[in-house]
Amino acid sequence: MKHFDFNKIYEEAPGKEPERQLYFIRQVKALFKARFQFMIDSGEAKRQFGEEQIKEMLEKEIYGTFHIETYGCQMNAKDSEKLQAILNQAGLCEAESEAASFVLYNTCTVRENANQKVYGHLGFVHNLKKKNPSMLVALCGCMMQEPDVVEKIKKDYKFVDIIFGTHNIFKLAELIFNRLTEDHMTIDVWEGTTEIVEDLPSKRKYPFKSGVNIMFGCNNFCSYCIVPYVRGRERSRKPEEILREIEKLASEGVVEIMLLGQNVNSYGKTLDNPITFAQLLEQVEQIPGIERIRFMTSHPKDLSDQLIEVMKNSKKICLHLHLPMQSGSSRILKAMNRRYTKEQYLQLAEKIKKAVPGISLTTDIIVGFPGETEEDFQDTLDVVRKVRFDSAFTFIYSKRTGTPAAAMENQVPEPVVKDRFDRLLKEVQTIAGKVSGRDLHTVQKVLTEEEDSHLKGWLTGRLSNNTVVHFPGDPSLIGKITDVYLEESKGFYYMGSQVKA
Ligand code: 5AD
Ligand code: SF4
Repeated sequence: MKHFDFNKIYEEAPGKEPERQLYFIRQVKALFKARFQFMIDSGEAKRQFGEEQIKEMLEKEIYGTFHIETYGCQMNAKDSEKLQAILNQAGLCEAESEAASFVLYNTCTVRENANQKVYGHLGFVHNLKKKNPSMLVALCGCMMQEPDVVEKIKKDYKFVDIIFGTHNIFKLAELIFNRLTEDHMTIDVWEGTTEIVEDLPSKRKYPFKSGVNIMFGCNNFCSYCIVPYVRGRERSRKPEEILREIEKLASEGVVEIMLLGQNVNSYGKTLDNPITFAQLLEQVEQIPGIERIRFMTSHPKDLSDQLIEVMKNSKKICLHLHLPMQSGSSRILKAMNRRYTKEQYLQLAEKIKKAVPGISLTTDIIVGFPGETEEDFQDTLDVVRKVRFDSAFTFIYSKRTGTPAAAMENQVPEPVVKDRFDRLLKEVQTIAGKVSGRDLHTVQKVLTEEEDSHLKGWLTGRLSNNTVVHFPGDPSLIGKITDVYLEESKGFYYMGSQVKA
């Protein structure tokens, strides 16, 4: 690749973002193009893609493929969309499997089994890379923020090309450029940041709905949780940037948005001109074209009366609130540093249900937190029975090194935790099966998302409260909101029929 004068390139790279990254996207595209040409000349491209496909790729200026495996939460899913857009612009198209020119694992470390999955995949991709040494393997996300993990990869997974963290995903093109022009693993993990880079490309999975980051990081330090250590301190985006992004999305046909943050209820507190989450929602509500607003995740301790009032009066905020309770025992909640009691949680759930009739409440629950007794667990079951959640994500407590809970005595024995987990799951599912059918035999608005994967000629969509509905219909309805009569409840989803105007 001697037609590149790298010194010149470095001289020319702008210092300011996002210009700098847009510049590196162009450079990386040129490098991928040169590499693809080399593969064509050597016959390797023909073996991998076949002649027909090479022709099509060249016409579309595609010079390779990428595959992203995403683990964890909505924030990671959103990050992956941004990473995907950078790769698209750098001349790669998406491949279904890890047999690709560029493979990226966007990792999660919230529980131990999330880490284990990544190591499993690394073993698999290593074999692929042995057959195709020019492939690039990259790792990013929360796991990479842990120094021990990076050390392990440096030592045991030397074939990995690029490692970066949660704070600098915007730099992907620059990191690929560094890897392609240097002869060693590129590692760039930031401990923290105050920077929020706006205006980089983003790619949407669905044309009609999109996640929108409103804040990054978390300041809560729940005692079991690794997130504040790997995602850093809370940083809110400026409301004008958020509104500008949503206006643009609306102009592109997006009708539903999901405002994303680890703790949206404390949005705006650290801005130069502080604003509350409720005030932000009121402004988002004014944007023409946006018909549904969702948000996640809410911390019960910060959920204000002002927010409940805004939800009550809104025409666009969906009838769904994800309100992680974690435990029903005030004693355990205190040890978890959640800063609310069982009674406060119950009162809050009641207040919301009263103010917003028909709202669906969902939650996260951890069983087996250190010191949890059968009595504590009974408190959790009690809250589950009283609130009657539409669904609950139930987790077995996972010890995360570096968190205060990991050092606590009285870790609960595994068989005890497993037994509680099974009992909790059964209770949650029985109740959810009953409450989620509450709109049976009514007409509801459904946002159609896709063609049904099982029934030909049927569509799949979601109610405002997030419940899935299947109904017969034409694919032209995808991305539109339609009236559907809910004929039959199958517990967690409905079968319905379109009500034509
Ligand atoms: N063990 C088990 N579950 C956890 N969560 C966070 N940290 C842990 C942990 N160490 C769960 C919480 C949180 C959800 C995203 O993951 O319930 O709300
Ligand atoms: Fe973790 Fe608690 Fe922050 Fe949620 S609020 S990300 S559980 S520390």
